[in-house]
Amino acid sequence: MNQERPGPRRIAAEPDMDAILNGRRMRRTRRTDWMRRLVRETTLSTDDLIWPLFIIEGDNQRVPVPSMPGVERLSVDLAVKAAEEARALRIPAIALFPNVRPELRDESGTEALDPDNLVCAACRAIKRAVPEVGLITDVALDPYTSHGHDGLLRGGEIDNDATVRQLVLQALIQAEAGADVIAPSDMMDGRVGAIRTALDANGFADRAIMAYSAKYASAFYGPFRDAIGTAKTLTGDKRTYQMDPANGAEALRETELDIAEGADLVMVKPGMPYLDIVWRVKEAFGLPTFAYQVSGEYAMIKAAAQNGWIDGERAMMESLGAFKRAGADGVLTYFAPEAARLLRRQ
Ligand code: PBG
Repeated sequence: MNQERPGPRRIAAEPDMDAILNGRRMRRTRRTDWMRRLVRETTLSTDDLIWPLFIIEGDNQRVPVPSMPGVERLSVDLAVKAAEEARALRIPAIALFPNVRPELRDESGTEALDPDNLVCAACRAIKRAVPEVGLITDVALDPYTSHGHDGLLRGGEIDNDATVRQLVLQALIQAEAGADVIAPSDMMDGRVGAIRTALDANGFADRAIMAYSAKYASAFYGPFRDAIGTAKTLTGDKRTYQMDPANGAEALRETELDIAEGADLVMVKPGMPYLDIVWRVKEAFGLPTFAYQVSGEYAMIKAAAQNGWIDGERAMMESLGAFKRAGADGVLTYFAPEAARLLRRQ
């Protein structure tokens, strides 16, 4: 029997490309490298980078952070070397985070108020050796509390106002030690205004405040908590003070309040999963706006690259460029030195 098999359906007509495109060909501006460079809308430069450093006690100590390949905790003398590297690479600023010895941590984070604590010692040493690099310090109690929270616990709850009183003192000793930018990451209400007032009243009117304005209760902070040693000690979570990842409008209200209270620079954190917030904050207020590409974001890119699953260098540069496209003026990123070296070669 001669049964006919169904053949491929016949194309009724060739598409009329001239009619469809009517001369509009977007690919013309992508044909060559020179043209792509010519029409590029945003560029990343080393001036956009802030390098977070983890500080430990001791001399000539470097201790790798296993969940952050390529990142090491540094003793103060080596942190000075890192600051010198930042200067050589033209990275404008570094941000310090201490890993405080467990014996020094207590319920109320007393160590945060010692003018000779690790962060203050690092500030003095770095400021003396490398005054050209901006020095940003973290205001929050989590490196100092035995429970790992950013605030003071009273009956199982975070006491906002008592915490703010302590944060103000913490900010003052950091300013005294030479910090150029005070960066409260604690998400207590009213802390920016309280810190601004205290700085001004104590002769530090020239110091800036970079507010972690929209900081979310995020799973992407995991490796950071390893790095500063709070991963195991943290009791519960930070959802009563850090923001719900589902919220956007609230981020604008938080930022608006921080600006009204005196923030000079505002920040959104984490970074890549919150680029919509970066965009909205920049659009709404026009202030210098920063994004924190946090530890978990760094770890994901590094881990995938180490597995050969992505091109790590390209993913790094693409992710950093995305912050610029979203309107950020700069990025806190553990990639800072690597990205700066790459930018210098280009
Ligand atoms: C805490 C603080 C955190 C980070 C910076 N400051 C973590 C947290 O809120 O638990 C996270 C930074 C990172 O993940 O890279 N004050």
